[in-house]
Amino acid sequence: MDIAAAVGAERLREIMTELVERSAAVVQRYGGMLSQFTGDGIMAVFGAPVALEDHAVRACLAALGIQEECALLAAEVSDRDRIDLALRVGLNSGQVIAGEIGSVALGYTTIGEQVGMAQRMESVAPPGGVMLSESTARLVDGAAVLGEPEMVRIKGAEEPVAALRLLGMGERHPGVGRAESTLVGRRWEMSAVEGLLDRAIDGHGAVVGVVGPPGIGKSRLVRELSAMASARGVEVFTTFCESHTSQVPFHTVARLSRAAFGVEGLDGQTARDRVRDRVPDADPEDVQLLDDLLGIADPNTALPPIDPDARRRRLTAVVNAASLARENPVVFVVEDAHWIDDVSESMLVDFLMVIPQTPSLVLVSYRPEYEGALTRVHWAQTIALAPLSDSDTATLITELLGPDPSVGALGQTIAERAAGNPFFAEEIVRDLAERGVLRGNRSAYLSTVDAAEVTVPATVQATIAARIDRLNPKAKRTLSAAAVIGAKFSRDLLEMLGIDPVLEDLVGGELIDQLRFTRQPEYVFHHPLIRMVAYESQLKSDRAELHRRLAAAIEARRPASADENAALIAEHLEAAGDLHAAYGWHMRAGAWARNRDIVAAWLSWERARRVVDTLPADDPHRAAMRIAPCTMLCANAWRVHVDVAGDRFDELRELCIAAGDKASLAIGTAALVIEHVYQARTSEASQLASEAMALIESVGDPTLTVALSCTAIRAKASNAEWCDVLGWSQRVIDLADGDPSKGNFIFGSPLALAITTRAIARYCLGRPGWRDDLRHGLAMARSADPMTYATVVGYVYFFGIPFGVLRPDDRAVNTIEDALRIAERSGDDFALAVTQQTLGFALVHRSAPERDRAQKLLAEVGEAFLRQGCLLGELPLVNVYLARERARRGDRDEAIPPMRATADHLFREGRLLAWGIPATGVLVETLLDRGTESDVAEAEAAIERLATAPDDEGLVTREIWLLRLRALLARAQGDEAYKQLRDRYRAMATSLGFEGHMKWAEAMP
Ligand SMILES: Nc1ncnc2c1ncn2[C@@H]1O[C@H](COP(=O)(O)OP(=O)(O)OP(=O)(O)O)[C@@H](O)[C@H]1O
Ligand SMILES: [Mg+2]
Repeated sequence: MDIAAAVGAERLREIMTELVERSAAVVQRYGGMLSQFTGDGIMAVFGAPVALEDHAVRACLAALGIQEECALLAAEVSDRDRIDLALRVGLNSGQVIAGEIGSVALGYTTIGEQVGMAQRMESVAPPGGVMLSESTARLVDGAAVLGEPEMVRIKGAEEPVAALRLLGMGERHPGVGRAESTLVGRRWEMSAVEGLLDRAIDGHGAVVGVVGPPGIGKSRLVRELSAMASARGVEVFTTFCESHTSQVPFHTVARLSRAAFGVEGLDGQTARDRVRDRVPDADPEDVQLLDDLLGIADPNTALPPIDPDARRRRLTAVVNAASLARENPVVFVVEDAHWIDDVSESMLVDFLMVIPQTPSLVLVSYRPEYEGALTRVHWAQTIALAPLSDSDTATLITELLGPDPSVGALGQTIAERAAGNPFFAEEIVRDLAERGVLRGNRSAYLSTVDAAEVTVPATVQATIAARIDRLNPKAKRTLSAAAVIGAKFSRDLLEMLGIDPVLEDLVGGELIDQLRFTRQPEYVFHHPLIRMVAYESQLKSDRAELHRRLAAAIEARRPASADENAALIAEHLEAAGDLHAAYGWHMRAGAWARNRDIVAAWLSWERARRVVDTLPADDPHRAAMRIAPCTMLCANAWRVHVDVAGDRFDELRELCIAAGDKASLAIGTAALVIEHVYQARTSEASQLASEAMALIESVGDPTLTVALSCTAIRAKASNAEWCDVLGWSQRVIDLADGDPSKGNFIFGSPLALAITTRAIARYCLGRPGWRDDLRHGLAMARSADPMTYATVVGYVYFFGIPFGVLRPDDRAVNTIEDALRIAERSGDDFALAVTQQTLGFALVHRSAPERDRAQKLLAEVGEAFLRQGCLLGELPLVNVYLARERARRGDRDEAIPPMRATADHLFREGRLLAWGIPATGVLVETLLDRGTESDVAEAEAAIERLATAPDDEGLVTREIWLLRLRALLARAQGDEAYKQLRDRYRAMATSLGFEGHMKWAEAMP
């Protein structure tokens, strides 16, 4: 479109002037020179009249900067004039004739063939794009991100020439681009890592830990290796951990994943598209989880209802699948793992599992004090960096100082002090140069003072502190504020803290490095120790004020991400001493993390609690503030395998009693009940469940009653107190009054659960109506949340099948398989384990090949229960069924002792009427199968023991099992009563409608 025609000449002139002015400013910023205005374009030269070493890189930065400016202007123009404004930029490098030409005032000009080539590049660039000729591309190799060479035809040339699109500038590593001393020593370390890189390129990935004290050269080694990898065309993704975010969950893992998925700096939609390109076949819900982890989730779509455990499993699976699908070799770098947050650490460990099967090398650097999970990946390699040798140190120092004889003796002093630590040596030299002891430039210093009179600070920290002290006040203030922000910081954020940033001195003094040269330049501390000293050497009150402003700035900058940033904001407010505000943000962070990662949520509640500890004793809100985190900690303790019983619960109880807060105490008590159940403290669980129910009822809140009752009911079911189960289930059903989601803060549908537990109680007690209840409960759960469904299916079948009430037919197995799929996708580890156990219980009653699968499943869950110290109450029956499989394979002598031991154990624990019924059943059947005289006697005793276990509820589930066992015993003894017992058994099974028993009875001869 002809712009002039669309907007008129006057407006066109305005737009052009604006464009030229903004472009000129960018050119100037990068040290270029505007040489010509060509009517509809401008020409700029870098490297003349002043020769700049990195003129090509500067030109690229300027070209991108101009496009950035143009895009901003284009947005304004599009709003006002409704036209699209776009610009083309071309770059070429080579000899030009430059200068004032002739005596007429033409100004500074460049002419020659190379100028023409630049114009040609401009003409083939796409609108909004930058095109480089081959000669420029060669000069910026490594620093710039370029497209594939395209062969283009240009005016005046016979043959097509190569042109490359400039896509961006690679993020420069700190130190790269400024003079870095030559690498000394580290020969075997380099060749070891190089060897691992070669193997990784061949598809045998590795993880390497690089460990050593501050300043010893870990980052340098990693940098050298990264450069080597890049030179071989291997992509490198780097992330780093920071001291002040070591408590902020997800920090590191999100950052590394953002780099690896290439979404850093992209806007939301573009980033999401990029992720979908990378994992084209992944399940859409998985990709949504990934968006959330990467911090690029679409704000308009809600997170699917998935338990944190499932979220972790699925994220691990997608990320690992993406790693496995990678064909090109990559290097991942995690720097400074001694500051990694717990959640990132454990997620990284999960992600590392597949690395050996991928063409990737993972480098993790850390200081010796770190002993976390990343150091315990047993197949990883470790490289420990020792101090440099004397001769390597001497070489390094000579390079820093230069050959002049006046610095010889000083070099000696530095070497002694630095003790093989290269960073210390460098800092001492900088310090001496700034003090004027050394004159001249790096590698060519002269000493002005006698070496004997020079004092050198005792530690590297003291050296840095001395250097910071010498800064002018504005630069010092900038550095202090930056240290509060973190290792990386931008000019605009400094400004938001009310700082007038003075950055040039800091860059010049090598205290910081510039990372990004855009409109909003980014900087990074030259070394973590510099940040540490800059942070610690400021006045506490100043620092607190900066933290406070930073917290506000983080919130203000991205208000939509406030929840995501809550942990970080809390961290800064805590450092600012704003304890009440920090507490609020910690709690908010906990609520946000609760659906994402339970450990993360847990840590936030712990932090909140600790903040309360530091409040003055007479703070009027102290007690109330403490209750909320303590309650959350108790309620979720079982999920992170922490015990509630003991101090944790006692503290909550005291607080609640003092404050008269019965509801919180009820929640905490319910959590303790569940803990007792899971740890097989069945009678304590039952007793406490009664107390809990009384307490819950006394609160008088029907919703709370509906929500919490399920825990008490579970405890009573484990202890075979079916009258209580029946009564309390009925109470929930009444209170829920048909509303499936009432009280849905633990389970999505307490009502579905209560209907199911009423069914079980009904059949155990021989009451009618259970069949309808089972059907109804399952149907309601199917349309509730995944957790409820998995739990209900578990209840239906893991009680129903062993008790002989239900048959493990195809429909049952299909339903359980369905629940298992749902648990895998969305359930927590408990729901998953319970569903696996349920499937195992069903399959163990079916034909041979399915029993093999059952055995595998049960062995796995049994092992998992033990390892996690939970669901221990389920173990006896798991073990009994496993033993029966052994017996079925002919190994009865091995199988009977564990069965016997389990039945005895249940008897001693007073749990014979729960899992003791089927356990006794299996023991008796197996004994009678072996059939020695003493086996038969033992079987008879076991039956008697079951028959006499005290019970005042009249359990028909026991009666019918006893009838079956007595019939089997009579048959084994050749007793005539057998037939009559068998027929009574058949009749009872039929009249109760217990399909499992009906089938078993039918099979009796
Ligand atoms: N072998 C070496 N030869 C020359 N210079 C080196 C060598 N090792 C390290 N250096 C220089 O010493 C300085 C400190 O090294 P580096 O930043 O790698 O330390 P680090 O071990 O990563 O410390 P931190 O634990 O604090 O991160 C850097 O400027 C680096 O270039
Ligand atoms: Mg380092």
